[in-house]
Amino acid sequence: MYLGLDLGTSGVKALLIDESQTVIGSGTGTLDISRPHSGWSEQDPSHWIKATEDAIASLKSTHGKALAAVKGIGLSGQMHGATLLDAGDKVLRPCILWNDTRSHAEAAELDSDPKFRALSGNIVFPGFTAPKVVWVKNNEAEIFARLRRVLLPKDYLRLWLTGEHVSEMSDAAGTSWLDVGKRTWSADLLAATGLDESHMPSLVEGTEVSGKLKADLAARWGMSGNVVVAGGAGDNAASACGMGTVGEGHAFVSLGTSGVLFAANRAYLPNPESAVHTFCHALPNTWHQMGVILSATDALNWYAGITSRKPAELTDELGPELRAPSGVTFLPYLSGERTPLNDSAIRGSFQGLEHASDRAALTQAVLEGVAFAFRDCLHALATAGTRLQRVTAVGGGSRSTYWLTAIATALNIPVDVPADGDFGAAFGAARLGLIAAENADPLAICAAPATDYSVEPEARLTAAFDAAYNRYHNLYPALKGVQS
Ligand code: XUL
Repeated sequence: MYLGLDLGTSGVKALLIDESQTVIGSGTGTLDISRPHSGWSEQDPSHWIKATEDAIASLKSTHGKALAAVKGIGLSGQMHGATLLDAGDKVLRPCILWNDTRSHAEAAELDSDPKFRALSGNIVFPGFTAPKVVWVKNNEAEIFARLRRVLLPKDYLRLWLTGEHVSEMSDAAGTSWLDVGKRTWSADLLAATGLDESHMPSLVEGTEVSGKLKADLAARWGMSGNVVVAGGAGDNAASACGMGTVGEGHAFVSLGTSGVLFAANRAYLPNPESAVHTFCHALPNTWHQMGVILSATDALNWYAGITSRKPAELTDELGPELRAPSGVTFLPYLSGERTPLNDSAIRGSFQGLEHASDRAALTQAVLEGVAFAFRDCLHALATAGTRLQRVTAVGGGSRSTYWLTAIATALNIPVDVPADGDFGAAFGAARLGLIAAENADPLAICAAPATDYSVEPEARLTAAFDAAYNRYHNLYPALKGVQS
């Protein structure tokens, strides 16, 4: 048995697979975000441990025997969060998460130093780790003075599980401190933020062993004293391992809290100007590119909250047939945007409201707005040298066929839906646990699931979607003028 642990933004998922990669069961624990000021997004790392304990306890209650047979654990996690530790590994302040944009000035300053884009292969986005630490240096000097180690969220979980300070390439690539082409920490980039390599965990590949599960935890979960913990991956690379998106030309669209259009690459192909992210993959000698939008299901959840409906009720209300855009345009920039705008100050908008604009029309606009944000990412990936022919859908939002049809039509490429199953980040993490424990061939293990059906673009609505996309595209510069 192998266990995948995915530390997401809204919860922790623990998923068990057996030797043949059949999912045996899963358990979850929930997490909240604290937003004490506009643009801030924080979590207390002790809540991650509690949520992980809850997820594993639930798995233990339903599949105790299988859990006891675990030989390898793989970790996946929300990326970029800055978990700051003192010399005794005590957490110094709440973790500043990936969707926190407070450090936009620090990010812009680091980004204006050419060595950041040259070595890290990426824009220094406010969501990335390095500018957050500079923000702490500038605003919480007493905390910075005690800072001895910076860990990414899932690597803090690893510290609790194994006692080791270790990260792996895919998550480390999102810090702005990694030389992403060479897969090593960059002393130059660290020095530019007042740190050095002693503040960083050591690095392994996602498929390698990073440590052993501590004896007390193994005993509590009924496991043997010999459980290895794999390097694992940031949640996007972990999802890619789960979906078999590991070879050239493979791609997925992820409808999670954030939205990701992800393509695997054999070579390192940085193109920071396009605002595409170029990161290491979880497999050795593999990289990936992705366009990231900050609010995907987050946008629908927000609208569900203010209409007091469940997201599925809202999408059901639209019926099964894709509707022509109604003329209402929604920009999903609730927490700013990464690809292609790199604009943390911009905020979302509904435009074109009229008397006939009812709840359903606004739901439709929200789904279309997210689809158009993915179209922007598709263009950005093309600029960065990757032209997608089709994508596989993953993430909670992909349960809505209506949304997938809107995305297929907006992107004008087919969207494949995998056969029933759980191929997300926790599954990918479990696969990495299997590879590390058995020294298995990563490409053989990370196979793609069978496709259940493909959602084709709706040809009858392509022109209407093109026109709606143009309205969407022209709205940002206009809005920028008003909001700034
Ligand atoms: C990727 C990113 C998000 C988080 C979400 O760059 O910020 O996808 O990893 O968990």
